[in-house]
Amino acid sequence: MSEPGLIRLAPGRADAAAAEKLRALQILAEATSSLPGDAGVEEWLGRFLATMIRLTDAAAGAVRVVAEDGRQLRLVASAGLPAEVAAREKLMPLDCGACGVAVREAAVNPAASALACATHTSQSWFAGFGGMIVVPLTHHGSVLGVYNLFLRAPRLIPGEVVLLYRSIGEHLGMALENARLARENLRMTVMNERQMMANEVHDSLAQTMAYMKMRLALLLDALRADERERALKYASDLQDGLGEAYADLRELLAQFRSRMDPLGLVHALQGIAAGFEDRTGVALTIDNRLPELDLTVDEEANVFHIVQEALANVARHSGARRARVVMEERAGEYAFSVEDDGNGFFALGSRAGATGEPRELRHHLGVNIMRERAQRLAGRIEIANLPQGGARVGLAFPVAAAERPGGS
Ligand SMILES: Nc1ncnc2c1ncn2[C@@H]1O[C@H](COP(=O)(O)OP(=O)(O)OP(=O)(O)O)[C@@H](O)[C@H]1O
Ligand SMILES: [Mg+2]
Repeated sequence: MSEPGLIRLAPGRADAAAAEKLRALQILAEATSSLPGDAGVEEWLGRFLATMIRLTDAAAGAVRVVAEDGRQLRLVASAGLPAEVAAREKLMPLDCGACGVAVREAAVNPAASALACATHTSQSWFAGFGGMIVVPLTHHGSVLGVYNLFLRAPRLIPGEVVLLYRSIGEHLGMALENARLARENLRMTVMNERQMMANEVHDSLAQTMAYMKMRLALLLDALRADERERALKYASDLQDGLGEAYADLRELLAQFRSRMDPLGLVHALQGIAAGFEDRTGVALTIDNRLPELDLTVDEEANVFHIVQEALANVARHSGARRARVVMEERAGEYAFSVEDDGNGFFALGSRAGATGEPRELRHHLGVNIMRERAQRLAGRIEIANLPQGGARVGLAFPVAAAERPGGS
């Protein structure tokens, strides 16, 4: 094996080597047993620096991550560095000294010179160290950060220990990469949610407002022309429009506020069911045949909004007297269906048993948003008219988390 920086031990140093190996193994064990929590990966790396320092018997240390611009190393945490040195080290060029080499080669350097740091940074403080270990934090060969461990006296680090340091760097690099992916996911979720809110405002309130604007212009014309009858008609249209806009607004607010229930999906659905009949005149039952539901909060929110829209449609369009939500597991899929005993989908020709994706429905926002949400669950929406009359809107998606986007 030709690990760069590999240093062969002279006979008689076996004890020291064993001690080094034990320390590195301890670090690796600690790295694998603790994972960054919600507090954030950088804080965790900072805390982990203390472990690295203790177990490598270093006098000081620093952890840096590659900055967003990809050209600098940003100091995330340091221990033992005087404040003025830490302040100067806040951002360093990516190619600076031993860190730069470790980044370029994605390799541990167990015998770097801290003296070189003194020269590169004009900080004489570094000259007080006899050696430095540089451990790059890697993920699939690319370097996301580095640990510097400053040693008072130079020390021989055996090759197998260097390999252990490499594993530690890979583990920490993976934690950094996971945190980056989690941030990206969160950003995407927020963006999608905003896009959806914009769509909903556009398709409800914005249209009613545009209608009122036109009516107002006509009302003004009529008033200027002193045409009382026409003016009264447009004023009455405006009044209706305003009532509709207000109802739209209230509906939008209710939708935006109905974030996921902290007690989970089943509780959230029971929340809709309570009072549904009073609000809509449709008697609703929830038939939950799922012993267990293993979904992330995001996935629960998607299911909830799909069922919520299907139920809103039952109330608005079906003319049904009764509806039910069935939750079950079928052939490795979760199946949620909303059935009603109303008129069925007109776009399906109200044919009993008719299923599919009628063209006419593609322009409606509610069903489209349902489909978008179903896609995010790697699932699909099925719409059908029932043989006994009424309609069923079904959502099916894989039970196995691994088959769903973002699932593991
Ligand atoms: N349960 C149902 N029974 C009968 N027809 C329905 C039912 N659900 C939906 N529809 C029909 O499907 C159409 C599409 O529904 P969709 O939710 O996409 O749009 P919408 O409710 O008209 O408007 P919005 O964009 O505000 O949701 C409805 O306009 C309605 O004609
Ligand atoms: Mg709708």
